[in-house]
Amino acid sequence: MISILRKINLYEATKAFRASCELFNNKKNNLCNSSFKKFSSCQETITGRKYVIQNKFCGFPKECDLKIVEEVMPEPQEGQFLCESIFISVDPYQRAYEQNEGDVMIGSQVARVLISKNPCYPEGSYIVGYYGWKTHHVFDNSQSGLAIPTMIIPESLDMPKSFFLGVLGMPGVTANFGFLEICQPKPCETVIVTGAAGAVGSIVGQIAKIKNCYVIGVVGSQEKGCWITRNLGFDGYINYKEDDICECLNELAPNGIDCYFDNVGGEISSQILRHMNTNGRISVCGAISAYNSTEEEKATIIQKSMIFNELKMEGFLVTRWVDRWDDAVTENAQWLKEGKLSTRETVTKGFENTFKAFTDMLSGANFGKAIVEL
Ligand SMILES: NC(=O)c1ccc[n+]([C@@H]2O[C@H](COP(=O)([O-])OP(=O)(O)OC[C@H]3O[C@@H](n4cnc5c(N)ncnc54)[C@H](OP(=O)(O)O)[C@@H]3O)[C@@H](O)[C@H]2O)c1
Repeated sequence: MISILRKINLYEATKAFRASCELFNNKKNNLCNSSFKKFSSCQETITGRKYVIQNKFCGFPKECDLKIVEEVMPEPQEGQFLCESIFISVDPYQRAYEQNEGDVMIGSQVARVLISKNPCYPEGSYIVGYYGWKTHHVFDNSQSGLAIPTMIIPESLDMPKSFFLGVLGMPGVTANFGFLEICQPKPCETVIVTGAAGAVGSIVGQIAKIKNCYVIGVVGSQEKGCWITRNLGFDGYINYKEDDICECLNELAPNGIDCYFDNVGGEISSQILRHMNTNGRISVCGAISAYNSTEEEKATIIQKSMIFNELKMEGFLVTRWVDRWDDAVTENAQWLKEGKLSTRETVTKGFENTFKAFTDMLSGANFGKAIVEL
């Protein structure tokens, strides 16, 4: 344990560190080093907070399923570092993955390294980690459950740190590889994306436009439809909560669909599959329509469409491309710089509001990437 001279409030510690970082930005490097040393040598106790599963999720998550627990952070040992979360990501997979009572709620964060005994992660650097919903964490080299390694945010890209949870993070990499590798889009083809106003879908649709495709987005509100068509360049949209999907597809894609990027599954997908062209490709990314179901999902059978149109459907996990991760990040960053890709964040403030941000996202309140700013 860091020896306890005085138990200070977490926020005081954070404030002190932020002040030292401002110093870092304003003065020269040697000043910065001394401020970090000063922070790490004052040997204060740092108490973090984390969300722990109280009841396994059943149906739509309830506030009582999680509780916030305090933990005194241990002193980092050789090879370890202590970091403080700046942004926490709320994502659909956090509902889809099986978690047990007592587990820390899974999730990723952008965090700042406060005290380091690992030369690969210097004090003051920013990282993306998969440590769960926690304000603080001591990294000990153990692999996260998602098999995505901790990575340092490259300052050279000169992008907002929060982007590394969205367009330059796991959702952006999912959109890039999941669409380009599996759908193999060709110019002038018709592409449809479900969950089109979300973190992954909004990027997929824009990449399809970069590849000169005709793009239709499926969304849960008219406001989202207006956003993706007016701001992101989608050619049309379907509001699955109000529109007749078949009628809209006949109107928007009279010549059929060549590529389908599926974020939601269920009946929406079965209907879209009936409108696919021969040799169409379907990238199965997510099934959010079923994540909160307590019963086995039922949807119209798809085999007939698959057979007669000789469709190719492939599911994937983004971790498949972990070795090529940087390629997608670099490409997305380049498109952002060129103004070909734009991104939007729905930001909730305060660690104590993380659960609300999560359920808001599951209910469709987010435009683009849903994140929590601590
Ligand atoms: N395979 C992988 O490796 C991988 C990686 C990342 C994400 N994913 C999957 O990709 C999908 C999108 O993830 P994301 O992070 O981009 O989330 P997101 O789209 O930013 O947020 C979730 C969205 O899902 C929509 N939704 C909720 N319930 C729905 C329902 N019953 N039917 C249709 N849409 C519904 C809501 O939008 P509306 O307002 O439009 O309903 C909501 O905003 C998820 O299924 C996720 O699990 C997979």
